[in-house]
Parts: sequence; C-alpha cells; structure tokens
Amino acid sequence: MERVILSNRFVNELRSLPEEVLSLRKAMDERHFGGYTTLNIIQLSHLQNDVCRHQLQQNLGSLIPVMYEEMKNALSQQLAQCDTQNWQTANVYRTVLGSVAQVTSRAFVGLPLCRDPKWLETAIGYTGDVFAVSQDLRDKHWLARPFIYIFLQSRKRLQARVQAGRSMLIPLLKARAEQLPEKPQSDLLQWMTESARGADKAPYRLSDKILFLCLASIHTSSSTAVHILYDLCQYAEDCVPVLREEITRIIAENGLTLASINKMKKLDSFLKESQRINHPGTLAFNRKVVKPITLSNGVGLAPGSFISMPSAEIARDPANYTNPEEFNPWRFEQKRNASQSEANKHQFVSTSVESLPFGMGKFACPGRFFAAGMIKILLIILITQYEFQFPGEQKKRPINSYLDERIAPSTTQAMKFRRVSQ
Ligand code: HEM
Repeated sequence: MERVILSNRFVNELRSLPEEVLSLRKAMDERHFGGYTTLNIIQLSHLQNDVCRHQLQQNLGSLIPVMYEEMKNALSQQLAQCDTQNWQTANVYRTVLGSVAQVTSRAFVGLPLCRDPKWLETAIGYTGDVFAVSQDLRDKHWLARPFIYIFLQSRKRLQARVQAGRSMLIPLLKARAEQLPEKPQSDLLQWMTESARGADKAPYRLSDKILFLCLASIHTSSSTAVHILYDLCQYAEDCVPVLREEITRIIAENGLTLASINKMKKLDSFLKESQRINHPGTLAFNRKVVKPITLSNGVGLAPGSFISMPSAEIARDPANYTNPEEFNPWRFEQKRNASQSEANKHQFVSTSVESLPFGMGKFACPGRFFAAGMIKILLIILITQYEFQFPGEQKKRPINSYLDERIAPSTTQAMKFRRVSQ
C-alpha cells in the first residue's frame, strides 16, 4: 500500500504524539487486514503492551536463570547429536527458532506447556498463518475480500491455529484461576490474567492476546539471533575469543544475573552492530495518521495516510555512522566508552534517531529488553559451551533475502556444532 516515507529528522516531533493522532496499532491492524487475520486483537486493548512494559521488564532479573535453564534444555535437544568428540551439522534457522520459541514459551506460559510440541507448533505457526492470509488478500479488491476469504486455505489454517491455542491455554487459565491465590506463577499468562480488565478477562481473549505476543516476539527474536550467529561465525577468529573472555570473566565475578549480562558491553555491541547491518526490515516507525499533522517544515500529513521511515538506510548512512558498510563489532562499545554521557546510550535496546529497528517513542517495542536477554543467553551458551563453524570451506555468512519490505536471514544455511563442555 502507499506509504509516505519520512526522514528521521521528523522522528522527535512525532514520537510522543498520542494514539488518537498517530497510531501504530491502527497501522498494523489495517495494513494486515486485522478483521480477517485476527490482528485486530491489538486494537481491542493495550494489555499486550502494558504487560510487556511493566511485569515482563520488572521480572526480567528473576527470569534470567529460568531462561538459561530452558535455553540449555532446548539447545541440548536441538543439538542432541553432538558431543565433545562429534560435530553435528544443523539448520541454523530451525535450531534457533525452536530454541527461541521454547524459551519464550517458558516465560509466557511456563512448564510443562513450553516443551509441548503441539504448543510450540502453534506458537511458531500462528505468525506464518497470519501473514499468509494478509498476503492472500493484499492484491484483491476490498469488495471481493469477504468472499475470497471464505475459500482461502490460509484462513482454514489460521482458524485451526487459533482454536489449537485456545484448546491448550483456556484449560490452563481455568486451572490457574482455581489455584489462585495460593500458587501464583511468575509468567506472562499470570500477569495477563492479573492485569486484564473488562472484556480482556474472557479466557478466549487472553488466549488470543498470548498468541499475538508469540507473533510479536518469536520470529523477530529468532531472525535477529540467526543474523548474529551468522556474523559471529564469519568473524569467529577475531571475535569469539574476545567475547568468551568477557563472558567468562564477568560470570566468574558475579554469576549469571541480569546485572552481569548488562556489564557485557562487547557482547551488547556485537548484537547491535549485527542488527544495524541486518535490519529486520527496510522500513520502521510505521504509523497511520488519524488526525491532521503539520510537520515542522510545513508539510501536512492527511488523516488516513500511512507513514514509515527508511530505517535500514538510516542505519547505513555515513552521516550517522563512520564507515557504515564496515562490520565493526566493537563500534557501539567504543561509542559508549567515549565519554560518561554516552555510557548508557548505544545499547542494543537503546532507540534513537539513527537506530530504529525497535521503533521509537511512545510505542517503541516493549519486548526488546526480554529479546536482548534471551538472545544474549543463547550466545553465552553457544560461545562458552559449544564450538561452531560453517560447513566445508565456507567463510562468509549467507546473503539476506528481501521480500517486500522484509529483510530475512537465510533459512537454509547449516552450521556445524560441537560441545566443548557438557
Ligand atoms: C529482536 C526482536 C524484536 C524486534 C526487532 C521487535 C520490533 C518491534 C517494532 C519495530 C515494534 C513497533 C515499534 C514502533 O514502531 O515504534 C514492536 C512493537 C511491539 N513488540 Fe517488538 N520486537 C522484538 C521482540 C519483541 C518481543 C520479544 C516481544 C514480547 C515479549 C515484543 C512485543 C512487542 C509488542 C507488544 C509491541 C507493540 C504492540 C502494541 O503496542 O500493542 N517484541 N516490536
């Protein structure tokens, strides 16, 4: 659909506008035909955002050991055929996606459901089904869409997926309600139940909101992690020993806690540089204009129009980054070390005019702290407990694929893994 592409110099004047004027949720709903794809769930309330911004962030410290345990479990299953003697060749995308889905699910719905293959298939598959329906309807006339929709195979798959989610989550929600308040669990399902008001209290609504959060988190986090792993493999000789030293030193001093993960500046810098070069998409800060807006240069934005910013180009603009095409793993660490005032900027989770992969302002991704923690735990385990390399003579990471405005890592690349410790 038509989009007004704006320079990032307007981001500061737009970032704080209320939803009634400039809306992320309306844009997402309408761009992906929310009434057909179920994405209209995000407009019904802010629950999905509130719980990520509050309870998920506040509990991140206590989730770290839980996520570590779950990631170790997931990786030992995904990479079950390797040990200290034998290499296993594995598809990277599937390995990371499976592990990220399991760890995310541990934080969202807890044990034992997070390890249930039927749940994992639902949590992973829902995203693909939503975007398949959206894709199937995109080029059809709006008048024809209701009829075409009825006959879509993708609609059948999506509806079956939503039903499967409900059939697993609703009994769990009911069981939780009966146990309360004696045995409150520390997971997203619990926090959603506690925070839900009005119509959000309905079990089917909570179930659908959890599925939406799976869509917001699993593929985004795993694609980011896959890019990082490809970069780490390409630059292994220079970077892995440096990262291993930082990780083992900090864990030896403080154990594996959120505070110690936050001290790993080189690891954080590596993540951010990989994401800078491999943006999740060509565009970000996607919004729908709801009420008329006049920009500081006098240009008017009409209600009903959709805006975006070219975030992938912004991240490679020499005005924003020195030698922008060069992969400099310690770029952001150097920026943070440059002065006291910069020390807390340039982190993987920091949003800024030059760094928009998590959006910016009032509606910037509320799950990015969780995503950062999970991806770092994955890397900490792989760097300290495994060796990895591309197969054969391959030295360079695979190229990315561009599909519409999406930028995706290779889903077919394999890597060899071997354990260095049990
Ligand atoms: C590396 C992984 C991720 C990326 C790249 C990402 C990216 C984004 C972006 C670009 C937005 C829109 C922000 C804006 O335009 O200002 C967003 C919104 C959102 N993200 Fe993320 N995200 C990631 C992981 C997660 C995770 C792990 C969660 C949940 C735990 C999550 C939950 C959400 C929610 C709830 C919203 C907003 C929906 C609303 O306001 O209703 N995201 N994300």
